Amino acid sequence: MTKEEILRDPRFKGIELFDHRIWLSSPTMHGDEQRWVDDAIATNWVSTVGRNIDEIEKQISEYVGCRYAVGLSAGTAALHLATKLAGEKLYGQARPNEGTLAGKKVFCSDVTFDASINPVAYEDGEAIFIDTERDTWNMDPVALEKAFEMYPDVHLIVLAHLYGTPGKMEEIKKIADAHRALIVEDAAESLGAKYRLGGKWVETGTLGDYNCISFNGNKIITGSAGGMFLTDSKEDADKVRKWSTQSREAAPWYQHEEIGYNYRISNIVAGVIRGQIPYLDEHIAAKKRIYERYRKGLADLPVSMNPYDPEKSEPNFWLSCMLIDEKAMAPHVRGEQDELYAHCSGKSSPGEILDTIAAFGAEGRPVWKPMHMQPIYRTHKYVTTEGNGRGRSNAYIKGTGVDVGADLFRRGLCLPSDNKMTAEEQDRVIEIIHRCFR
Ligand SMILES: Cc1ncc(COP(=O)(O)O)c(C=O)c1O
Repeated sequence: MTKEEILRDPRFKGIELFDHRIWLSSPTMHGDEQRWVDDAIATNWVSTVGRNIDEIEKQISEYVGCRYAVGLSAGTAALHLATKLAGEKLYGQARPNEGTLAGKKVFCSDVTFDASINPVAYEDGEAIFIDTERDTWNMDPVALEKAFEMYPDVHLIVLAHLYGTPGKMEEIKKIADAHRALIVEDAAESLGAKYRLGGKWVETGTLGDYNCISFNGNKIITGSAGGMFLTDSKEDADKVRKWSTQSREAAPWYQHEEIGYNYRISNIVAGVIRGQIPYLDEHIAAKKRIYERYRKGLADLPVSMNPYDPEKSEPNFWLSCMLIDEKAMAPHVRGEQDELYAHCSGKSSPGEILDTIAAFGAEGRPVWKPMHMQPIYRTHKYVTTEGNGRGRSNAYIKGTGVDVGADLFRRGLCLPSDNKMTAEEQDRVIEIIHRCFR
């Protein structure tokens, strides 16, 4: 529906438009950021070296509980170098014109942002997508075990913690150990989230063999951009530092023995991050309040929130999401870039809710479209708890088999989760959602 049609709809009578945009998740600045940016400029460290970089590497490694943190230009850069390190460890150094994963398969999270798993392709590997479980919306250990039965030669897993909720790492690490597989952990969305591993609480970003976080503008804290590689291995940290600065050797001239990248973080960006780090816990607390307010405010509707296991994890609640019960789904269809939905009393759909809150000035988003459904990866293998997730439909059988990712995408949406949204503004979003079901 168009904005005008929505605003004319009697169901929404009496609800006021927001006087400013309510964001999905936008930067929340506190003032300290300016101080450290000014410090970089005043001291002329306007480069990819400087005190802000040293300081954020120290502070983040202390916060997360790892020995080394290497500041990079983006979470994607961290993921690329983490994936390359894993490839080199497993399969040896590659020629300059070849990726370290050439001809190799890698098990990957399916419901995630594509930056998690694109580095597998950068390194010439083949991503095999693993379906999602319903308890945390992350990689399903049962499907992963199935994938190892089908492809026993695989030795690398790339996984993300969706929307700040830790996945089932205890189970996944056991499976990885049993199959001598390495893990690249994408904690881009989950900085500050905790997980209970073997009875001990640890931070996401320490759960893989190679770990990454992001300071993108929409993340729990931001530098406008930026990312980090986290590790306990000095050798790996040194290697990532080297690769990220064009792989320069210690010669008086530019000497190169390995392919390099320009991936190091800027000292200006690091200044913004330095100003944000003291507020990380405050941001998490605000996100948790938002999640709880939605949970209570939507409790009388046929919907549920993005789930987590409180015994095993404490998410950072980066994004609050909701899933519409199957019986309350109004008819809707999606093409590759557009969608069509019908209104149906007592029911609704992600499209209707997102269009409606947008008409009032609030931003939401569909649940991330699974990688196995993305046109670019449609020819890649996909494994569910039932085994091969491709080619299951048939003119003679009903249904298409298990596909949890597709189901979450069909029925789920991310709600406005901005730290700066007031309780009144959030209540208005909740009220609009209620009216969608009328
Ligand atoms: C799960 C996930 N992985 C990786 C990234 C990439 O991080 P960056 O934008 O810092 O490159 C993002 C978000 O941007 C993300 O949400």
